[in-house]
Amino acid sequence: MAKLIYSAIASLDGYVEDEQGKFEWAAPDEEVFAFVNELERPIGTYLYGRRMYETMVFWETASTTGDQSPVTRDFTEIWRAAEKVVYSRTLQAVSSARTSIERAFNPDAIRRLKESSRSDITVGGADLAGQAIAEGLVDECHLLLGPILVGGGKRALPANVHSRLELLDERRFGSGVVHLHYRVSV
Ligand SMILES: NC(=O)c1ccc[n+]([C@@H]2O[C@H](COP(=O)([O-])OP(=O)(O)OC[C@H]3O[C@@H](n4cnc5c(N)ncnc54)[C@H](OP(=O)(O)O)[C@@H]3O)[C@@H](O)[C@H]2O)c1
Repeated sequence: MAKLIYSAIASLDGYVEDEQGKFEWAAPDEEVFAFVNELERPIGTYLYGRRMYETMVFWETASTTGDQSPVTRDFTEIWRAAEKVVYSRTLQAVSSARTSIERAFNPDAIRRLKESSRSDITVGGADLAGQAIAEGLVDECHLLLGPILVGGGKRALPANVHSRLELLDERRFGSGVVHLHYRVSV
C-alpha cells in the first residue's frame, strides 16, 4: 500500500506563507533543493490544493536548457513525470499534462488510491494537507523548517488536530534549515 506524505517548507514558527502571502523566504538553496528532489523522486502522484497547483504549474513550462542549475532541471523533470490531481471548486481547466481536477476531497477515494498505487503519494498545500491529516490519511510528514520567524500567515499544520508523531529522521543544512521526518499515527 502506498503512503500519503505531506512535505512543507515552513518558517520556524510554522508558516508556509506570511501575512502578505509571500513565501520567497522559504526558497530552498541548492543543498536543500537537492534533498527535496530525493524526497520527490519516488512519488507517483501529487494531490494539490488549487493554490499550490497554481504555484507549482510553473514547472510545466520552466526552461530545461543550460540557464537552469542541475538541481532545478532535475526537479523540473521529476515534476513533469508525476501524475497530478488538483482539488478545486473554481478551476476551469488545468495547464499541465497528467493532471485531473477533483471538485471535492473524498477520504474514501484517497484510501482507495493508496491501496491501488504502486508509488507513494504527496499532498499539499497546507489547506488540503490539513484536511488529509484531520481525516487520518497522512502517513508521514517532512517538515523543512527555516531559520526565520514570520509572525503569522498560513499555518503549515492544521489547527485543532491532535496526533502523536514518531520522529523517523532529522538533518541540518548549511543554511540553517532543519529537516524533521515524522510518522503520523492518529
Ligand atoms: N512555503 C513554501 O515553500 C511554499 C511553496 C509553494 C507555495 N506556497 C504557498 O503556500 C500557500 C498554500 O495555500 P493553501 O494552503 O491555502 O492552499 P492549497 O491547499 O494549495 O489550496 C487551497 C484551495 O484548494 C481547493 N480545495 C481545498 N479543499 C478542497 C476541498 N475539500 N474540495 C475541493 N477543493 C478544495 C480550494 O480551491 P478553490 O478555491 O479553487 O475551490 C482552496 O481554495 C499558497 O499560497 C502557495 O503558493 C508555499
